[in-house]
Amino acid sequence: MAEKKQAFHGSDLEKIEEIYGIKKENIIPFGGNVNPLGISPLLKKSMGNHIEAICEYPDRDYKTLRSTLSMYCNTPMKHIIVGNGATELISLTLNLLRPKNAILLSPTYSEYMREISLVGGSYQEYFLSEENDFRLDLEDLKAHLTDDVDLFAFCNPNNPTSSALTTKEIHNLLKHCKKHHIFVLIDETYVEFAPDVQTVTAVSLVNEFDDFMILRGTSKFFASPGLRLGYGICGSLAFLEKLNAVKNPWTINTLAALAGEAMFMDTDYIKQTKDYISKERERCLTKLKKCSKLKVYPAYANFILVRLLDGTTSFEMFERCIKEGFMIRDCSSFEGLDGEYIRFCIRLQEENTKLLDILTV
Ligand SMILES: Cc1ncc(COP(=O)(O)O)c(C=O)c1O
Repeated sequence: MAEKKQAFHGSDLEKIEEIYGIKKENIIPFGGNVNPLGISPLLKKSMGNHIEAICEYPDRDYKTLRSTLSMYCNTPMKHIIVGNGATELISLTLNLLRPKNAILLSPTYSEYMREISLVGGSYQEYFLSEENDFRLDLEDLKAHLTDDVDLFAFCNPNNPTSSALTTKEIHNLLKHCKKHHIFVLIDETYVEFAPDVQTVTAVSLVNEFDDFMILRGTSKFFASPGLRLGYGICGSLAFLEKLNAVKNPWTINTLAALAGEAMFMDTDYIKQTKDYISKERERCLTKLKKCSKLKVYPAYANFILVRLLDGTTSFEMFERCIKEGFMIRDCSSFEGLDGEYIRFCIRLQEENTKLLDILTV
């Protein structure tokens, strides 16, 4: 086993292969947060005949893709921008905003911090409290969102805590931020996995508020991290215009655009995924809650955050699991979650059962 303590990202399968000598194909990726049911059958069927599409440039405005997204999200197409994964849109948005004093709801996904630092901006982290099961104290946060703050960014449901703000709370926050001229960035990469999407998504607020941006991707829910397709929804058409002006043309290739047009329409697959994740997440939570060595937090995303209470470190648990071919996420690299937190996503039932057996012994 490895001599040096190291925290791996969910996609670091090649590194694991190298360090632990386990073949990539034999690793069950519990750290990747990807839908275990695989890609949409409608997408599979429609893509087979479309290879010739690469002979053409994509439509610069991606009208068909954006119109499909407009139906999927139930929001006007003029408010939608598409990008090369949520990652391109995180980068573009933060590049444009160049925040001098951002507040991030933490612990959270590291990409926002990396991008803010890259553009020479600065941020502070507002930490969700573990004692409160990582639920937000809205009034306390609002007291920190003052006139000198220029951006508030959060992930909803949040990676890695799996906690979420409700649409009602977001509405309250947006009203507050509008008063203080604070732009709000919401990463909804995991929102479709929430038990009731309509009670956590901010999409319905796009008509009411200008200065906020919702970002989503297809990597997780639609099991397609290799496709690199994401999208943003923004109330301000002026902000979208600025984004489009700095965005490189054609960053979504013709095949990815066609893939999006198929997968967002696959209502059976979408429903099947939601039902499966909800049921299996509940089953896993129930089993984990019975184990006195673990503390489990409420989960809105397709992953569960667990605190190890018996002195086992997150790295020791990571190694225990990887020896069996199960790659969970050691959360020690997340600021504020040192040493005793792990995260794992919902996989196929049989795989989950085996992982739970290891975690709960
Ligand atoms: C919260 C969050 N946002 C964005 C991403 C990246 O998304 P994409 O693959 O759409 O660029 C990830 C990937 O792990 C993530 O966890």
